[in-house]
Amino acid sequence: MRDKLTKMPSFAWVAVTNKCNLSCGHCQRRLLKKQGLIIPKEMSARVFEKLEQELIPSLKKIQFGGNNFGEQLSASNWDDIFARVSKFNIDISLVSNAILLTTERMNVMIDAGVEFNFSLEGITSETYESVRGCNFENFITTVTEACRKKAGTRSRVNLGFTALRDNVTEIPKLLSIAAGLGVDRVTITHFVPWEEGQRQNSLVYHKALTNQILGKARELARDYKLLVDLPLLFTTDESPKNKDLSGDIAPMSLAPCYHPWESVSISEKGNVMPCCASSVVMGSLEDSSFSEIWNNRKYQKLRKTVNSSRPLSFCRNCGLRGLEVGDMKPLSFCSDEGILLGAIGKSDHARSSRYTLRTVKNSLLKTGLGSKLVPYAMEIYRKHVAFYAIAILDGRKPALSKKDLRSKSQKKHHEK
Ligand SMILES: C[S@@+](CC[C@H](N)C(=O)[O-])C[C@H]1O[C@@H](n2cnc3c(N)ncnc32)[C@H](O)[C@@H]1O
Ligand code: SF4
Ligand code: SF4
Repeated sequence: MRDKLTKMPSFAWVAVTNKCNLSCGHCQRRLLKKQGLIIPKEMSARVFEKLEQELIPSLKKIQFGGNNFGEQLSASNWDDIFARVSKFNIDISLVSNAILLTTERMNVMIDAGVEFNFSLEGITSETYESVRGCNFENFITTVTEACRKKAGTRSRVNLGFTALRDNVTEIPKLLSIAAGLGVDRVTITHFVPWEEGQRQNSLVYHKALTNQILGKARELARDYKLLVDLPLLFTTDESPKNKDLSGDIAPMSLAPCYHPWESVSISEKGNVMPCCASSVVMGSLEDSSFSEIWNNRKYQKLRKTVNSSRPLSFCRNCGLRGLEVGDMKPLSFCSDEGILLGAIGKSDHARSSRYTLRTVKNSLLKTGLGSKLVPYAMEIYRKHVAFYAIAILDGRKPALSKKDLRSKSQKKHHEK
């Protein structure tokens, strides 16, 4: 086969379930569930065996969760899957709400050197509980226990804080508590509204306040010697230069992407996707082997286009570009209004085609027949149509200008 890639990915996001023990107010899962678009599912033994035989042996790192709307510790087969994966000599990371992390599970996972990434949206009972709907004290007790137990091991405890209007002012307190507990890293990401009613909770509408808090957070991170990933500052009249708070120039949408060569995202259904930023399905492990998918026509097309002047539309403004594969940092960078408001549309701008499609889908879901057909139609679309439809539509778009494409040498490296 032409352009066959013999090297397997070194990093994988894997979701073994889309079930969840919570129903957080900010999470798209709540909306999808209400619309009947979440059909509870756990990874089948057949798909997991394929991963175990074909993919996991090549990995340096596997990350459970963070690539779907679900809680991996909710999976009935979690303990078995974890035991099997931890036999491989690879780094294991988990994105979790921490609620189902019993002491017994924690001990086993710390022995295996797991990197925990616990999520929260508030550092007071009031804000945390208003979003997560579960007890803050229990959460913080688990984080404290994990921080105490990981000391002197290779295990790490990171916190992922989704920032929205109602909690942004708590970021300084978050950093102070994290430093006190011995947390290894704090990653602040933007809330992405999924429903019109959530619009004003986006920090896009609170730019000056957000920039002020992020500036303060940078100082605190330095004082506490704490590794903190912060989103880019918003561009406002007061801050014409959009700089990455770690000091580099903003990492632009068109830096090279390494993911189609080095990483892969696998859903509980066995769908293979190029990364956690895209839900376009490259192939299904229910129907094919991983190596067949890794070198199929879709993957060849993606590798050919992703760093060219004609990237597919889902790759054009992607926050993961230019960033190290397997790093938690990428997700925190984006402060692009178009991306942050992509799901609900900017109220003062022309509607995007993505927004129009979503509106049509949501209207259909409100009808009797639509609510039965749309979930299946969406699955078929994602699996069999989306990639080619996007490729055809993108063929009509103008090529990007050469000055937009950066770091050609890095790009070449990944085109080998
Ligand atoms: C979807 S959850 C899945 C993993 C796990 N259940 C958890 O809560 O950590 C992964 C991350 O996405 C974040 N998230 C959920 N809804 C979001 C939204 N609307 N905008 C931005 N991040 C969101 C969560 O806060 C969490 O940090
Ligand atoms: S725990 Fe995670 S997946 Fe579940 S509703 Fe909350 S943010 Fe979403
Ligand atoms: S550009 Fe973004 S969406 Fe496209 S493959 Fe890379 S990480 Fe995925």
